[in-house]
Amino acid sequence: MNTAAGAEYDGLVAAVTGGGAGIGAAIVSELLARGARVAALDLDPSQAPDGALPVACDVTDRASVEAAVATVTAELGGLDILVNNAGISAVGTVEENDDITWARVLDVNVTGIARVTAAALPHLRASSKASVVNVSSIAALNGLPQRALYSASKGAVMSLTFAMATDHVREGVRVNCVCPGTVHTGFVDKLLQNFADPVAEKAAMDARQATGRMVTPSEVAQAVAYLASPRNGSTTGTALDVDGGVTHLRMRPDKG
Ligand code: NAI
Repeated sequence: MNTAAGAEYDGLVAAVTGGGAGIGAAIVSELLARGARVAALDLDPSQAPDGALPVACDVTDRASVEAAVATVTAELGGLDILVNNAGISAVGTVEENDDITWARVLDVNVTGIARVTAAALPHLRASSKASVVNVSSIAALNGLPQRALYSASKGAVMSLTFAMATDHVREGVRVNCVCPGTVHTGFVDKLLQNFADPVAEKAAMDARQATGRMVTPSEVAQAVAYLASPRNGSTTGTALDVDGGVTHLRMRPDKG
């Protein structure tokens, strides 16, 4: 017998790109806990949460993406929810990233979403509870220092979300995105290594949050689960901030 919470996702199949680590793994765990069958699509899916279907997938390779989506639908019996979470970081001003780096980051963070969604759409259209959630960032909404390329990629994810939501609303496919603030994952640990003083940069990331701490992967997963839920059928073309208040709150330094 399902609990009310479990029934929310009962019978639904979800695929989460980048589901093998960090925020993606937290999203996989949350959707499993809510009763979905979940596939973790990742370059390395070996560390995906127990209970998920691990599927090797490179979102920059169309053949790999199409094979992964075929595996999901064959193994789990369809596809109702797609979470486009896979992404890579970049640090630097426009002077500091070369053309190869620009092409690589946009390929993973932006074109990757187009590839995976295109492969998923025939299956999503066949679902009565179809939903896509893209993972953007507060970098789409705030001018962060030394994040020119990364911000450009995440701004594109937000614009793509609105365009996709419009294109597919009448096909019954909802499309939304989340904009996390800084979430303490392996992604951030890798990013920190690019700074001369990683400890000082981590302190700055904590201090940037109005809440005084980084966001947790689980908090992002809650927002994704809300947007993907069939209970929220009127929510499409939205961007939900999960950012510790960094985008809209203006704190007085002396009051903390
Ligand atoms: P992470 O580095 O911990 O995990 C990313 C996962 O994506 C890894 O398992 C990796 O293998 C996978 N991946 C990378 N390239 C891939 C590819 N070509 N094909 C398939 N899988 C691939 O990163 P994290 O922190 O969990 O980030 C997840 C998403 O959240 C990214 O889109 C990131 O831009 C976004 N984000 C992260 C924030 C943070 O502070 N950690 C803040 C805002 C957004």
